[in-house]
Amino acid sequence: MQIKAKEMHLWWCRVNHQHHPEMMAERLLSDEERARFKRLHAAGKRAEFLMSRVLARTALSHYLNIPPEEVNFKRTPLGKPSLDPPCHIEFNLSNTSKLAVCIISASGPVGIDIEPLGRGGEIMEIADIFFSGTEREELATLDPRSQPERALSLWTLKEAFLKAKGLGIYSEAEKIAFLYRGTGRPGLAASPDIEPMPERWHFKNIDFMDHRIALAATTPFQASSVRFVALKPPVAMPAASEQPSIL
Ligand SMILES: CC(C)(COP(=O)(O)OP(=O)(O)OC[C@H]1O[C@@H](n2cnc3c(N)ncnc32)[C@H](O)[C@@H]1OP(=O)(O)O)[C@@H](O)C(=O)NCCC(=O)NCCS
Repeated sequence: MQIKAKEMHLWWCRVNHQHHPEMMAERLLSDEERARFKRLHAAGKRAEFLMSRVLARTALSHYLNIPPEEVNFKRTPLGKPSLDPPCHIEFNLSNTSKLAVCIISASGPVGIDIEPLGRGGEIMEIADIFFSGTEREELATLDPRSQPERALSLWTLKEAFLKAKGLGIYSEAEKIAFLYRGTGRPGLAASPDIEPMPERWHFKNIDFMDHRIALAATTPFQASSVRFVALKPPVAMPAASEQPSIL
């Protein structure tokens, strides 16, 4: 599969507990992944982990022209996976108990985060810990009914950006702020030790399959520059009406 310089491919699949993940795991996972998989006991966590590995390996295999089981990863000390040996493709993963996604870029670092659409209220409860002072001030200016919605966008944007940079979400979240300043579009402010050139980053929120997706990249998102690619069966396919809605 080819990817153009300004394009991003967003591979996705549902996490479905009904399939028989162990059989796929034997075939596709590395020894390290298989060991991690065996340490998981809850059926939901096993399915989530496995589908994210199957998705990432299958997606990347299409660009590398190798079988999924031959895709080789390395990780930074903070956990960011990348291809080993490095190549022109960068990617990032996120998953929930219902959905796994893998974003692929051929033009620089990229980060992705997904959260269920209903999580805004829960995120508001920890706003004091996770959001910066300026973000909280801007949140407080909104109608209380709109605040959970904004909190969900802020949370996913911060995670996507920190993941694109390969940083840790818990230690660095306060050093960055996404502010809308009445424009309807999030702009990044960051302390220079995190990002000396915040203006080089671009962000996008998309709602898809009952989740909010945030993307962070150093390439501008143009109209229809994010192409959704569904992992082929055995993962269930969506109904025709389940189309992404770009925010
Ligand atoms: C990365 C992090 C934001 C993930 O948050 P999450 O919402 O629980 O998980 P998501 O589903 O969105 O993403 C998980 C995937 O992100 C990727 N990832 C993990 N750490 C990452 C990092 N630092 N940067 C970019 N991507 C990362 C991995 O692919 C991971 O899935 P995998 O382990 O199955 O491969 C969070 O775990 C974090 O802040 N990690 C930093 C860890 C850290 O500070 N460690 C200190 C040493 S213990």
